[in-house]
Amino acid sequence: MVADTAEAAGWSNISFLDDDVTSAQGLHWPVLGPIDSLANHISSFDSIIVAIADAGCRQDLIAKVERMHFELATVISPAASVSARAVIEPGCMVLAGAVVQTNAQLGVGCIVNTSASVDHDCLLERCVHVAPGSHLAGGVRVGEGSWIGLGATVNEHVVIGCRCMIGAGAAVVADVEDGLAVVGIPARPLS
Ligand SMILES: CC(C)(COP(=O)(O)OP(=O)(O)OC[C@H]1O[C@@H](n2cnc3c(N)ncnc32)[C@H](O)[C@@H]1OP(=O)(O)O)[C@@H](O)C(=O)NCCC(=O)NCCS
Repeated sequence: MVADTAEAAGWSNISFLDDDVTSAQGLHWPVLGPIDSLANHISSFDSIIVAIADAGCRQDLIAKVERMHFELATVISPAASVSARAVIEPGCMVLAGAVVQTNAQLGVGCIVNTSASVDHDCLLERCVHVAPGSHLAGGVRVGEGSWIGLGATVNEHVVIGCRCMIGAGAAVVADVEDGLAVVGIPARPLS
């Protein structure tokens, strides 16, 4: 999805590094080697994006790319709507149908997935994933590495901590502490 979106956004010469060679089967783009071979390929490319949904894994690899002082790409679908007054830090992906509204801030390595929305004045820390069809109302804050599940909604000004998991379809109406998984309407901690 990320490569497809990058291509639609005008990127060319797209290639993957992947530890699982079998993932290359049927892939339209070449897999050049395992992730550890990054240093060997760096001079052939302008930038890199970590196209891995798992937040912990994405955070680790982004930190590695940053340590190598290599440029992180930001991929925004031409079919997304992003305010000129939104701040999108490097390594983010905003996919088709997504909307990022005015004064929203996306930290390094965030994903705003298909048809998700991040409304005005939201603040997403590093490596937050807003899954397809989920919606953050105005002024929501989401801590590093948290995951907003498919079709979830988050009420205005709610604060979600770091490494939280918001279950698919949840309606989050109150703040969520670091590390909690919450599900349901209204969202409650998963027991
Ligand atoms: C919340 C979530 C992480 C829980 O996963 P899990 O820890 O493996 O939990 P389980 O599947 O074992 O379910 C545990 C219980 O919670 C319930 N539950 C799980 N997810 C739920 C959800 N989203 N809403 C309501 N209840 C849920 C299950 O029915 C089960 O209840 P039971 O014990 O009464 O049978 C997961 O279900 C989820 O919603 N993931 C988000 C998926 C997503 O966004 N994908 C996007 C891909 S881009």
